[in-house]
Amino acid sequence: MASSRPLLRTARQLATTKILLPVSLFPRHVSTTSSPPSPPPPPGSNGTPPPPKKLKPLTQEQKDFLSSALRVNQAGELAATLIYTAQTPPILRREPHLKPLMKHMYDQEADHLRVFNSLIAKHRVRPTALYPLWSVLATGLGWSTAVMGKEAAMACTEAVETEIGGHYNAQIRELLKMVTEWEAEGYDVSDEFTELISTLRRIRDEELEHLDHAVEHDAQKAEPHWLLTGIIRAGCRGAIWVSERV
Ligand SMILES: [Fe+2]
Ligand SMILES: [Fe+2]
Repeated sequence: MASSRPLLRTARQLATTKILLPVSLFPRHVSTTSSPPSPPPPPGSNGTPPPPKKLKPLTQEQKDFLSSALRVNQAGELAATLIYTAQTPPILRREPHLKPLMKHMYDQEADHLRVFNSLIAKHRVRPTALYPLWSVLATGLGWSTAVMGKEAAMACTEAVETEIGGHYNAQIRELLKMVTEWEAEGYDVSDEFTELISTLRRIRDEELEHLDHAVEHDAQKAEPHWLLTGIIRAGCRGAIWVSERV
């Protein structure tokens, strides 16, 4: 896990850096004549470049939604990397054969965190002010479930990913609703926005893959499964609610 240190340091630097610039999400979601020239048309076309996209500026409500989505996603992915970092040593002491699985899930979480670190920096979104609190809680959750045993650690992943999968699905639904409205009004959708939706879908699918791995590795044999997953899921919902706002 030594490789996680530079990443976590970067995340903590972001957390402690006061990025309080005005939100300027997707500023290019408007038609502009100063965009870079289009690439030449493919051979065989009629030689005229495609017309510039007709894009509708985001409303303040849409900007606020996107800011809070990026903020909570970044906080959640930081928590996920910390949970796996804390879980891995106690689990591998008893179950060394799980090393490839733990590494695979950690590596995907580290990639998710990189994605949202870069998006919040690009769009000048303020990170959650509760970074230090989430960091302590996530590390504590990962460590305590891992010392309870593999089943409890996997139940933790099952609970977290159930909530996170639903959370990403709700965001994707909201973005698709915006796309539907723009298209109904005759506007185009920016490549950046389309890319954001496909990034969220990829990450959602990877979180649900973690959920499947956890169930395959006896998450539901944790004792008492209903209590453990109930508490963790409620904690996740609370953390999401707060991070969207603070
Ligand atoms: Fe993730
Ligand atoms: Fe995950």
